Amino acid sequence: MKDTNFLKENNARHMWHPMAHPADSLANPPQIITGGAGVRITDVDGVEVIDAVGGLWNVNLGYSCQPVKDAIMRQLEALPYYSAFRGTSNDAAIELSHELRKWFAADGLVRAFFTSGGSDSVETALRLARQYHKIRGAAGRTKFLSLKKGYHGTHMGGASVNGNANFRTAYEPLLPGCFQIPAPYTYRNPFDETDPEKLAGLCAAALEDEIAFQGADTIAAFIMEPVLGAGGVIPPHKSFMPDVREICNRNGILLIADEVICAFGRTGSWTGSRHWGVKPDIACIAKAITNGYFPFGAAMLSEKVAQTFEKDDSRAGNIGHGYTYSAHPVGAAAALAALAETKRLKVDENAAARGAELFAGCRSLMDKHDIIGDVRGGHGLMVALELVANRASKTAVLPDVTARIHRAVYENGVMIRVSGPNIILSPPLVVSAADVKDIVSALDQGLRAA
Ligand SMILES: Cc1ncc(COP(=O)(O)O)c(C=O)c1O
Repeated sequence: MKDTNFLKENNARHMWHPMAHPADSLANPPQIITGGAGVRITDVDGVEVIDAVGGLWNVNLGYSCQPVKDAIMRQLEALPYYSAFRGTSNDAAIELSHELRKWFAADGLVRAFFTSGGSDSVETALRLARQYHKIRGAAGRTKFLSLKKGYHGTHMGGASVNGNANFRTAYEPLLPGCFQIPAPYTYRNPFDETDPEKLAGLCAAALEDEIAFQGADTIAAFIMEPVLGAGGVIPPHKSFMPDVREICNRNGILLIADEVICAFGRTGSWTGSRHWGVKPDIACIAKAITNGYFPFGAAMLSEKVAQTFEKDDSRAGNIGHGYTYSAHPVGAAAALAALAETKRLKVDENAAARGAELFAGCRSLMDKHDIIGDVRGGHGLMVALELVANRASKTAVLPDVTARIHRAVYENGVMIRVSGPNIILSPPLVVSAADVKDIVSALDQGLRAA
């Protein structure tokens, strides 16, 4: 590896960073992370901090998960790659599909279509949803509905169902036939409704209204995150996803759960859908499936969807979709090891317990820091603090303030993620109670820099 001077000199010079302005990356070079162990990361200057971002919602088991590292090494020795396109498969992917069927049995998901990450999984779900209706002779069902504030990756399909202009405007025109309804976001919503249950009802009514307006027989699927993540951790009221399920059933619309963040314990339940007692028709998974050590994901399909394809005796069920790295044997081996560790460590239970502590700790900071307008969480290890310049008017905080806070929290020993006005916390699911206290204390210190 090149020395520190080389790394600092060349930082952001020859590489563009996702979700950043290249000019800003040059003016304010990114922190260079060179090591990770447990729930901590180390930067190029040797500074060690708790990673309260958990990589990017994906390093659920921390940075020292030896079984996953060993599985990757073993698979690289045995078979580093082979294609899963028609006619060939590999042992690791077959074993993983068997394991995932067990893992998702309670969600009614029985088949896996493997991908290289979350955006791929969303794209796969959208495409298979349209094809499902075509096989059934309902070719007019092509539209997609979703939530404002939702995040579904950055492929053209995923970006089209996203509910945040930041990921859309520069890339328009996007896919036609995608429509968003208001999110159950109590802090800001067009109904001016702060009661979570009433708001959930209003958003469900907006969905019904949109379906009636578009015509149910033109709609292929509704996609939602069980708890909205990147949009600023927005947990809906417990009635919302079951209501959406019922509306979709009544209108012949598939429900796609985007579980890219929620699956594998983050909400305190093994999946976000299960957290709300809902069985989706398709679920998108990625991120923690390999603990972030290998890019991998899947679209998981229900019996209803699977049977429609498998019983088709025309050409309509032929899948004209897939990736060179679909069912990658190294990713599959990594996933098998990560799932075994995830289960063995019961990270869902730790996520629920530590998540409650983190949420309570962050809420207590509201008494001290007027800059905190809202704290959202309460469902596992996903918490957001929405910062405001003025609590009464809810005016959003300026970016230089959030940048200052980010730096100050880091100097106090914790890496956080700033996304617009939100501080987003998604630490590894193996954090200890002491780590949680340290995160809250660093935030307390850092917010003084506001
Ligand atoms: C809910 C959700 N869906 C999809 C994606 C896209 O996943 P990826 O970045 O792996 O393509 C993300 C990424 O954060 C996500 O949070």
